[in-house]
Amino acid sequence: MTEFSTIYKLSLVALICFVQACSCSCPVLECWFVQEKTGRGGLTAATSQEKSLLYISTDKHRHDAESQSAQSGSDRVYFVNDPAGTLCLPSLKCPRGSAKKPQCEINPFLPHPSDLKWVAPLTESTMSPIYLQADWFTTSHQDAKQMHTISSITRAPTGSKEHDVILSVTSETLSVQSRLGEPVLLDCSFWVDPSSPLSGSGFAVEWRYQFRGDGRLVLAYDGKTDRLADTQEEGAMLDFEGVHQKGNASLILQEAKVRHSGMYICTVYLPYLVAQVAVELEIVEPPSLAVYPSPLPLIVPGQSLTVQCEASGFAPLSLELSWEFKGADGKTRSLGSGSITGHRQAWDGTYGQSTRLELDTAQLDLGRGGEIICVAVHLGGTRRASSTFNVIGFSTPSIEDSMAMVGVALVLYGLIKFVSWTFIGSGSEDADKQGKKDN
Ligand SMILES: *[C@@H]1O[C@H](CO)[C@@H](O)[C@H](O)[C@H]1NC(C)=O
Repeated sequence: MTEFSTIYKLSLVALICFVQACSCSCPVLECWFVQEKTGRGGLTAATSQEKSLLYISTDKHRHDAESQSAQSGSDRVYFVNDPAGTLCLPSLKCPRGSAKKPQCEINPFLPHPSDLKWVAPLTESTMSPIYLQADWFTTSHQDAKQMHTISSITRAPTGSKEHDVILSVTSETLSVQSRLGEPVLLDCSFWVDPSSPLSGSGFAVEWRYQFRGDGRLVLAYDGKTDRLADTQEEGAMLDFEGVHQKGNASLILQEAKVRHSGMYICTVYLPYLVAQVAVELEIVEPPSLAVYPSPLPLIVPGQSLTVQCEASGFAPLSLELSWEFKGADGKTRSLGSGSITGHRQAWDGTYGQSTRLELDTAQLDLGRGGEIICVAVHLGGTRRASSTFNVIGFSTPSIEDSMAMVGVALVLYGLIKFVSWTFIGSGSEDADKQGKKDN
């Protein structure tokens, strides 16, 4: 009873602590402050890294108390006001005892107009350059679970350590897997500080694809003039209503293809500002398997037969093929991988590969036959295909066979007995006759 109440009390205390921890302010984030050091002549651009702390708050007044208590440390310290709470994710806080730390980096940022066709209209009208004269930083965060990625642009009056988030771009799908032919959603959304003079002057969204040095524009949307760039990829879409109303800049690919595998960069432009997040897409399609010949012909003991297994339509390339044999007794054993061919690529970008196995009844103990199974292990799942075969004239005596053999033996014995009796009988008669003559 006392034990129970202790546990009860402890859990109550734990619960209170938990609630308090959750209701208290946003996490303090550890970040690397990375800055380019322009060397003499401005040519050598080495970078310097310094540890820094970010005190995040959704409420501007909260920082006053914090800033007093936190000034002592030697680290760079910033107080970030983030009304949208984008940086308030508990997962951005370093979980105790966890090996994977959230990643965070801050860099100085220089506001600049862009020449890109879908961005240029944003800076056509004259902006208030005074607003731009401030300290600007760009910060990027990735949470410990590798799920969220956040990129934000912050502004502080020159020399101040109190920053306001002006633009933040986030994605909740750092990496996405999809089957072939399915619609894909790559998450990206943005938030603009409504009190900033840059808000309401339009935005642009751009999705770019990158894979092994190959890059292309997937989609570019000028939200100010409501225009899409002509270079748009087929089947790629934005939810235009969502992008204007909720800042939902997610990319929709109507039908996943193998060539869609790669890195996608979602870039959001405001006049003079830009922030981006990267999302990885992997198209994973398990193979289709077929075993040839099917059905397998009958085999005579001592004969050998070649079976082939064809895996096709899979992506990515990596595949493990092997063979198994399931005997009449239901037991399965491995027959190795056979001889595997090189892969080939089909018109739709999927891969194909096959393996051949020599079924030698003289060497492999295959009994009276059974099932030959081809096994393909792939990122998208394990697939199996099988074909049954029989070894004919195979003579491990069964009970019936033994009985029959005994029967045959008995009949033979009877027959021999009969024949020999007849012959020996007649032979002695002749001898008798001979004896009588001699007498
Ligand atoms: C963004 O838009 C897409 C497509 O309409 C939708 O599926 C997705 O749920 C939206 N995301 C958010 C966060 O609203």
